[in-house]
Formats: sequence, C-alpha cells, structure tokens
Amino acid sequence: MNADLNKQTMIDEINRMRIEKDAVIVAHTYQIGEVQDIADLVGDSFALAKFCAAQEKSMIVFCGVDFMAESAKILAPDKTVLLPERQAGCPMAQMVNAEGLRKLKAKHPDAMVVTYINSSAEVKAESDVIVTSSNAVKVVRALNAKKIIFAPDKNLGAYVAKQIPEVEVILWDGFCPTHHRIKPDEVAKVKEVHPDALLLIHPECTPEVLQYADFVGSTKEIIEYATKSDHKKFIIGTEMGVLHPLMRDNPDKTFYLMAPGLVCPNMKKTTLESVLRCLQTGYYEMNVPEDVAAKARKALDRMLELSK
Ligand code: 13P
Ligand code: SF4
Repeated sequence: MNADLNKQTMIDEINRMRIEKDAVIVAHTYQIGEVQDIADLVGDSFALAKFCAAQEKSMIVFCGVDFMAESAKILAPDKTVLLPERQAGCPMAQMVNAEGLRKLKAKHPDAMVVTYINSSAEVKAESDVIVTSSNAVKVVRALNAKKIIFAPDKNLGAYVAKQIPEVEVILWDGFCPTHHRIKPDEVAKVKEVHPDALLLIHPECTPEVLQYADFVGSTKEIIEYATKSDHKKFIIGTEMGVLHPLMRDNPDKTFYLMAPGLVCPNMKKTTLESVLRCLQTGYYEMNVPEDVAAKARKALDRMLELSK
C-alpha cells in the first residue's frame, strides 16, 4: 500500500516537473515497465532518434543508455538532453574507439564506413553513415557501395551481409553481451518445448541463432509483428523489456522469452526515482564537443535521409 502511494507520489511529481521544465520523456523498449509507462514515447533506437531530431520541447529526458542520449543531443543540439543514470552505458558501444576505426579505414580506403548507432560520438564522427537494427539493410542497400566496413556489431553486420550478398562487408569484432551469449542449442530446445510458437529474434543474436527465426527485426518491429499477427504464441528473442508492451497490448496471446539471460543490466538501471531526480537536479546532462558533433550529425542525418 505504502509502496504504491510512494510510486503514485513520484509519478505525480514527474508529471508536474515535466510541464515545469518543458520536458519530453522518452524510453527504449528495454526499460523497466514503470519507466515505459511514464514515457511520452517508447520505441526502438531509430524511432527515438527520429522523434528527438524533430522535438519541439526544450528538454529531452532519455531513459535508455548513454549512446542513445548522446545521439539525441547531436540531432537536437539546442535542447537540454538528460540521461537519468550516468552509468547506463552499452558494452558493445565501448568495443570500438575512433583510433581503432581510423586504423581499419586506412587498411580499406575503398570501403564506406557504416556504423551501428550503438557507438560513441567520436566513432560516429569517423563514419559515413549510421544505422540501427531496423534500417541497416535498407540504408546499406541505398548506399550502393561495393565494399563497407561495418562496426561495431559483427552479428548485425553479418545479417546485413547475408541480405545484400553483392556488398563486401568487413566486420568489426564487437557484439552485444546480452544477445551474443544465447546459444543455438538453447534456442533449439525452446522451439521443441513450444513447437506451435513463432520465433521472433533481434539481429544482435549470432547467425547460428538467427537461422531458427521465423522473423528477424528490431525491438519495435518484433512488437509490431506479434501484435499484428493472427498467431497466438511467440518466442521472443530479444531483451525482456519488450515483454511489457507485448503482454499489455496482447492479452489473448502468449509470449515466452527465448532464454532467461536476455536482460541488459544497463537498461535496467533507470527507475522512477532516477527520472524524478534527473528532472529535479538536471543531472546528467549530455554534451558533445561541436567539432565531433558536426561530423557525427552528418552521418546521422544521412541515416535519416536514406531510411525515408
Ligand atoms: P533496437 O532499439 O534498434 O531494436 O536495438 C536494440 C538495442 O540493443 C539497443 O541498444
Ligand atoms: Fe548495448 Fe546490448 Fe544493452 Fe543494447 S542490449 S544497450 S546493445 S548491451
């Protein structure tokens, strides 16, 4: 009873403060349910980036991980962009740095650099174009390049390479620890247990796991696919946060998580307390040096243009 009262008091205060600060609150689909429920928009990396780029409010509170809030700041430089949990980083984004990427570019001067949005501003600044899991195939196709460097996610890169075999793809050796650790035999077993369920998997999983998929897509695409489908049972091959909207919006359907380890600890750091604290203190504010931001913005804008 008390916990519920505290929660409602916090939500009321967040609602009061978002008006006072002229703030919009956005949340990635991997956030905890309570945080998703107070957001003005819940979406995948692409939907959130696009929404922030066109934002009219003065402040964006980004409930997600640091590269997402940083991308929002690059796309909306005159807005105040806040990340409620300073320590919410992405281990995959940390697997590549600008110097390493410059070295690889020097080895392949004829390749275009395609970088996953899960990367730092400095790495984006070294890139020709940015992609997300929902638009990577479309954007790479639209580039019409013969050869690309794909960083940092080797699994998403391999998925793109498979869809567009005419492009030579040099893969960076990065991965998402949450998705990459899922083993093909775990997936085969869960399919055996639920033979009548469709298997929807995120392309950050390994190619050996993706071969079992009935559908491969970003978090938003997985949610849309399951919601529109006439099928009644689904095995979900991405971070468990997506179960919140799936179960809420599809009470007549059953969802099983592909593996119990599908949890991103960094996405789970943000709570209602952190959102409220962030609105009250203005901490942590994202800032990107303008020389880096200008180059990164060019690569992000190209993504927005090519994914139309
Ligand atoms: P999407 O938001 O593109 O589905 O990617 C998932 C992810 O891992 C974000 O960090
Ligand atoms: Fe990074 Fe993976 Fe977490 Fe996404 S799910 S933020 S890629 S660690």
